[in-house]
Parts: sequence; C-alpha cells; structure tokens
Amino acid sequence: MNGLEARDIQMRFAGLVALDGVTLEAPRGRVTGLIGPNGAGKTTMFNVCGGFLRPTQGRVFIDSDDVTTSSPTDRARRGVGRTFQRLELFRSLTVRENIALAAEGQLISDGPLAQLGITRNSRAARVANREITEKLIDDVGLTGLADRRAGELSTGHGRLVELARTLANRPTVVLLDEPSSGLDPVESARFGAILRRLMDENDLALLLVEHDMNLVLSLCQWIYVIDFGRPIFEGTPDDIRRSPEVQAAYLGKAVA
Ligand SMILES: Nc1ncnc2c1ncn2[C@@H]1O[C@H](COP(=O)(O)OP(=O)(O)OP(=O)(O)O)[C@@H](O)[C@H]1O
Ligand SMILES: [Mg+2]
Repeated sequence: MNGLEARDIQMRFAGLVALDGVTLEAPRGRVTGLIGPNGAGKTTMFNVCGGFLRPTQGRVFIDSDDVTTSSPTDRARRGVGRTFQRLELFRSLTVRENIALAAEGQLISDGPLAQLGITRNSRAARVANREITEKLIDDVGLTGLADRRAGELSTGHGRLVELARTLANRPTVVLLDEPSSGLDPVESARFGAILRRLMDENDLALLLVEHDMNLVLSLCQWIYVIDFGRPIFEGTPDDIRRSPEVQAAYLGKAVA
C-alpha cells in the first residue's frame, strides 16, 4: 500500500498498556483521522507512526516497507512529514525566512535539487529556493503576511507557516498532531480547507490526530476511534456520527 500502515500496535509503558492492538491505514489520497477521548493513546500512536517511540509489539510500514525500527530521520527521508502540537517557529524571522530555511533542506546532500546537481550556494540554488519558498507561501495562503515576523502571528497563521515548513520537505505522508489546537472555529475550518486542497494536489497520505470533532468529521474520509488504547470503531464520518460505541466513549458529548 502507498502511504502509512500500522499493524497491531502495542505500546507498554512500565505497567501501563497505552496501546493494545491498534491497526490503522493512511493511504495516499485520503485524509485519515485518529480520534479518541483524553488519554486514549492518540499521541502515543502518532509517535509510534513517526518513529519517536518503538512499539513493544506490531509493525509500521511506509509504502509497504517495514520501518518499525527506523528512526524519525530515516522516516523523514522516506517521505514522512509531521507537524508539532506546539509551534516550533523562529519567532524573530519572517514568515518567508522561516519557510525558506525549511526549503533549504532540498539543497543539501540527498535533497532532490542536490541530486539534480544544483548545489547549495550557487545562483541556481538561490533562485530555486526562492521559487519553492514563494510557491509554499502561496499554497498555504500566506502571501499577504510573508514579511511579518513569525512571533507576531496569530496561532492560526503560525500553524500555516508550520504546515508550509513541513511541505517544504516534499512529504508523501503527513502526520498532524492536533493542528486545530489554539485555533478558533473559523481558523480551524480554513486550515481544514487548505489541508484538503494540498492533499488533493499532492496525493498525500494525511493522518490527522485531533480533538476537534468538527474538523475531523468535515475533513476525514475514514476515521479510527480508540479508547483506553484499544480500537473501538472505524468508519466514515457518517458511520461515526451514528455509532453508539463512539457516543458512549465520548460519554454523551455531542458528536457534531
Ligand atoms: N512516556 C510515557 N510514559 C508513561 N505513560 C505514558 C507515556 N506517554 C503516554 N503515557 C500514558 O499513556 C496513555 C495514553 O496517552 P496519550 O498521550 O497517548 O493519550 P492521548 O489520546 O493523546 O490523550 P490527550 O487527548 O489527552 O492528548 C495515558 O494514560 C498516558 O498517561
Ligand atoms: Mg495527545
């Protein structure tokens, strides 16, 4: 399968089984959601998929290659990009500078431009970097804010800068950890629309780990639900809305 697959994942932390038999597939061309109540194991699963945690049992595959024991850096080389729940921007640099720095990655050693013989400090490299940067700024809708310092941005705009920085590495699989945290409903909807478009245009495999039910239900085509580390349901947004299991797990909290 093209994209990410995690099979029968178990994760134990001294005495606690945080994940027990969780399987998910995030194929290219689909936005896949992973939801569950507080403490369900979402972040743990995210970290297993990104290579930040090694599962005590189960396997992780990228494009059908077993990457269970490979590092986050190796997974990044295979096309896995991730965003952080807390923003990790250079606050004193502008939006453009933040994105240009991330785009430089394409110019070093095994980056795609380096492989074309465009070396780091050449004129061609500077031109290429500028073009890539401007395209990324445009892709995430930040053209009007390109010269602003990242530290002055709203959380919503900061998340878009972060998304552009992630996309600069040309990932094929993108893992998003609670991208809506700190966003108001309007920003969250806008972020979702941008994600959907970028996914369609680049045939990405997107895995969204999220609290915000509205965002998950409007954006994802397939959703996995876990509770206490166990899979309890999977299906389309409509299936999720109708599922008594999901309703029960969220204990009466309205599922949009
Ligand atoms: N490094 C760790 N060591 C020990 N226990 C951990 C560790 N990381 C997570 N846990 C435990 O594993 C369980 C799942 O945590 P996790 O953070 O994955 O849940 P979550 O679904 O992301 O929750 P939230 O919605 O609050 O973000 C929790 O009981 C948590 O306390
Ligand atoms: Mg979490």
